[in-house]
Amino acid sequence: MDIVVKAPTNIALAKYWGRVSEHPRVASTPSLSMTLSNSYTTTVVGESTTEASILEVRDHASGLSEAGYSYGYKCVGMEGCDVIQFRGSRGDVLDGSRQVCDRMARYVQYLRLCYAGILKNPFSLRITTENNFPQGSGLGSSASGFAALTIAVLACWHQAASEEALSEAGVTKEVLAALAREGSGSAGRSIYGGYVSWLAGGGSTEPMIRQEFSADHLTLHDTIFVFSSQSKQVSSTQGHRRAPHSLLYPPRVAGSAARHNHFLEALAACDITRLGELMEQEALEMHAIAMTSHPPICYLSESSVAFITWLREQRRAGAFEGYFTMDAGVNVHVISSADQVSTIVEKAKENFQFEEILLDKVGEGPWLQCHGGGG
Ligand code: DP6
Repeated sequence: MDIVVKAPTNIALAKYWGRVSEHPRVASTPSLSMTLSNSYTTTVVGESTTEASILEVRDHASGLSEAGYSYGYKCVGMEGCDVIQFRGSRGDVLDGSRQVCDRMARYVQYLRLCYAGILKNPFSLRITTENNFPQGSGLGSSASGFAALTIAVLACWHQAASEEALSEAGVTKEVLAALAREGSGSAGRSIYGGYVSWLAGGGSTEPMIRQEFSADHLTLHDTIFVFSSQSKQVSSTQGHRRAPHSLLYPPRVAGSAARHNHFLEALAACDITRLGELMEQEALEMHAIAMTSHPPICYLSESSVAFITWLREQRRAGAFEGYFTMDAGVNVHVISSADQVSTIVEKAKENFQFEEILLDKVGEGPWLQCHGGGG
């Protein structure tokens, strides 16, 4: 049977930026995110008819028929991943796609190693994965990508046709979140809907990733102003490695637990103004650390800086209430209540040019379906 999983991305209100360890992924600071509704990855997994697993990463920008990047890999015993083929149909996005394929293929091999002693036969897989939004441009494609991949692969190996069946097989959300975070830290948070924390450090008996509030607690909207859908030059993975070199990093880590509590208090009280202030502070701190790390990284562009300056001026002048945040990329997310969205979009369009504006809001989290009975 084929398993189809849709996993939405998430936007970090409090950022994961820098870690104590990369394998396993242990964050230096607690983060808090809101899982979205409309920006997601769809991953289809079934049993492969060949000994090799086949992974195909489809590209949002070029459309399904042309994209079709396939990457086959063969798992050699439990020792490693032997690349047996790579095909790309368009040179211009080949490198970016290849990096994603490599990372996902390595991660599937990791899952296979984890489940080698548990499942009799973690069989070879046919995997197709596609985002409905640009990847690698700070919009969280690795969060949704690795969350969808984790659920789909585990559901396929366990032949679980629903999340309940997967949970009965021992693969609870907690287990999925812990696994997904090894693919990409932020992916652990996309296993849950609503508002989700990932706590700092490790070794606790409590789940490190947990839902704090469900989506219906507070309907926040995320209007994403896409200045560029080009992949960023320096990956988040690199950014995390460089962050501890910034002089601003130790004070940020020291104050992060108190900040996380302030976020939770503001969320509990549905206080959008307080949340917005905290969120902007977080985003600016993260980018200040990136800019002062070694070597420095500047994810912001002239347009994104002009846009956030303008947004603050408009807010001060009482035009609307919306607060910005940016992940590792040039694109700006504006968080607001529903009634502010149309004014924000209208005024932004009068003043700036965008490649795309994506309308999103808090959502319920991943969704799993099963198609057919055979491979
Ligand atoms: C800026 O989860 O992409 O989006 O664990 O190396 O895959 P890896 O990093 P990733 O980092 C996300 C960084 C961020 C902030 C956040 O989502 O908390």
